[in-house]
Amino acid sequence: MTRTLAPGRLVIASHNAGKVREITALLGPYGMEPVSAGALGLPEPAETGTTFAENARIKALASATAAGLPALADDSGLEVSALGGRPGVYTADWAERQWFEGPKGRDWYMAMGKVEGLLAQIGPDADRSAAFVCTLCLAWPDGETALFEGRAGGTLVWPPRGTLGFGYDPVFQPLGATLTFAEMPPAEKHAISHRAHAFAALVAALF
Ligand code: IMP
Repeated sequence: MTRTLAPGRLVIASHNAGKVREITALLGPYGMEPVSAGALGLPEPAETGTTFAENARIKALASATAAGLPALADDSGLEVSALGGRPGVYTADWAERQWFEGPKGRDWYMAMGKVEGLLAQIGPDADRSAAFVCTLCLAWPDGETALFEGRAGGTLVWPPRGTLGFGYDPVFQPLGATLTFAEMPPAEKHAISHRAHAFAALVAALF
C-alpha cells in the first residue's frame, strides 16, 4: 500500500515556472505548503531517462534527498501520432535554442513550428491527433517513490492560438473543445488536462 502524504511542506521538483504554477494551483485544496526547487536553490538534475516515469523519478528523488522533504516532480510531453509519438520525452529539448550572443533558452514557437513542419512534410492529410502525457512522481526523503500518469487527447492546430498556459498549449486543442489550452481560462485547462488526470490519481492514492 502506498504511504499517505501528511500536510506540510512539499517541494515542487521543477524549474519550469508554468508547471510550478499549475501544480501549486492543483495542490491548493490539500493543505500542503508547496515550495519550488528553484526557491530552495536545489540543483536541476540531468534528465537522462528514456521514459516519462524515469525522468519524473530522477527529479523527485534529487529534490527529496537534497531538501529532506517529500518532493513532487512532473515529467510530461507531447506525443504526436503521425510522428510515432515524438517528441515525447524530448518535448522540452525540441525547444532548446542558443540565443544570439546569449545563453541557451527555450523557444516554444520554434518547437511548435518544428512539429508543424514535420506534419507538413507528411502532407495535407497527415493525422493531426496528439496527446499530452504527464507522469507525476512523489518521492520521500528515504527514497520511496510513487508514480501516477495522466493523458489528454487532442488535435494539433496551426497557426498557434492564445497566450495563456505554457509550452505547446497554443497548438493543442483538447478533444471536444473549440479552444486551445492557451485560449482557455486556467481553471478550464486544470479540469481536463493530462496533469489534472495524473493529479486525480495521486490525490486518490495519497490524501
Ligand atoms: P519536461 O517534463 O520538463 O521534460 O518538459 C516537458 C515539456 O512538455 C514542457 O517543457 C512543455 O513544453 C511540454 N508540456 C508539458 N505539459 C504541458 C502543458 O500542459 N502545456 C503545454 N506544454 C506542456
